[in-house]
Amino acid sequence: MWNPRSAPVTASVAQRLARAEAPALPEGTGPLWDGRRPRTLEGWVALGREVFFGYPLRVEVFLEWALAHPGALDEAGLERAPDGGYVGVRVFQDLDGAARVGITCALCHTRTRGPTLVEGEARRTFDYGRLRLAYHRETGAPVDPELARRMATWGPGRADVTEDDAEDPVAIPDLWGLRHQSHLTQAGTIRHTGPSALAIRQETQLLHANHQRVRPPRELSWALAMYLYGLAPPAAPPSTATEDELARGRAVFLRDCVGCHDNPVYGGLPVAVGRVGTHPALANGGARGTGRYRPPALLGLLQAGPYLHDGSVATLEELFSAERLLAGYRLGALGPGPVPGHRWGTALPDDERRALLAWLRTR
Ligand code: HEC
Ligand code: HEC
Repeated sequence: MWNPRSAPVTASVAQRLARAEAPALPEGTGPLWDGRRPRTLEGWVALGREVFFGYPLRVEVFLEWALAHPGALDEAGLERAPDGGYVGVRVFQDLDGAARVGITCALCHTRTRGPTLVEGEARRTFDYGRLRLAYHRETGAPVDPELARRMATWGPGRADVTEDDAEDPVAIPDLWGLRHQSHLTQAGTIRHTGPSALAIRQETQLLHANHQRVRPPRELSWALAMYLYGLAPPAAPPSTATEDELARGRAVFLRDCVGCHDNPVYGGLPVAVGRVGTHPALANGGARGTGRYRPPALLGLLQAGPYLHDGSVATLEELFSAERLLAGYRLGALGPGPVPGHRWGTALPDDERRALLAWLRTR
């Protein structure tokens, strides 16, 4: 059981690493968990938060290098935390006793917005592929040309989290409303029947990320599941639409959308990719493919662009415009050309679309 010693990369730790000093744990850094089982839900959530921010998923030479070259971090869009450090990056004591730099869940699943940390929001600014390419360019460490070509196409907010070669990167999702989703991941790979299923998934993820070397204590996976269940988006900004218009938007949604977006957070059961019509690579891929895409929760939508599993549509307006389906379309978030699929809502009369968008923006 691995209960690692792990410390945040605060401004002062970052400064030391920027002077190319070897990573070191601050004096007195104890294990992540004190070994006591929480007795209340709040206690579990608090422990889960420690895991989310602090449990190293793996050693990251790219980030260790980048911390010594902060320009590379700025270039890759890794914003600093309000305290001047880097959220989701940790110095930890590895199994061999050496201090190393590692990443945690929060690297991909927490945003910094001004002075606020938005826990659970996808880090849509960070271009991990670009950072890794900078590392190879500057250090001369060899990289497979095909992998390099693919990493150049990741772009901000997307990552390939599988170990295989075939798959393309997908958009990092917000972690809102998971409790109500019967399937997890965008292809609906994981059947989610309750907290134990989620805890087991998290245990597997922690184990795999560390190359099966170490198993986390059961309690930490359970705590992580409890924490994930509690994540919720910040309140949407007040709508400028009238009550009447919002009611009409909701009526359009109930008429045209709720057939698939039917659970309490307006996510739902996975739908065959042929029916959805979006890019099929993830749905049909070897690692996580199910032949389907799962409707995501529609929460915090205004901040959730670019949209769809691959981040191919920049704005909500474009998601519901017929132009994006046409050959001459130039505004696709991944480059010019039509963005096919998810045609629902693209053929609405203008007033209905306006009302629908107004209502969606309040979600
Ligand atoms: C390198 C970036 C990265 C890190 C680090 C990371 N994730 Fe993710 N996460 C992703 C991506 C990308 C997906 C989408 C995968 C998919 O849909 O196939 C995802 C999907 C998920 C999902 C499914 C969400 C849904 O809508 O069904 C959960 C839950 C999740 N991650 C939790 C975690 C936790 C907990 C950790 C830490 C143990 C973690 N992630 C670490 C990038 C990351
Ligand atoms: C036949 C099932 C189905 C219907 C009907 C449907 N959706 Fe979806 N929706 C999906 C699926 C599946 C996805 C995920 C597709 C993907 O990522 O490739 C999705 C994705 C979305 C997204 C993107 C969310 C994000 O964060 O990226 C929005 C917004 C959305 N749907 C809204 C609507 C609205 C509004 C309607 C009605 C006008 C509607 N949907 C009708 C199945 C459906």
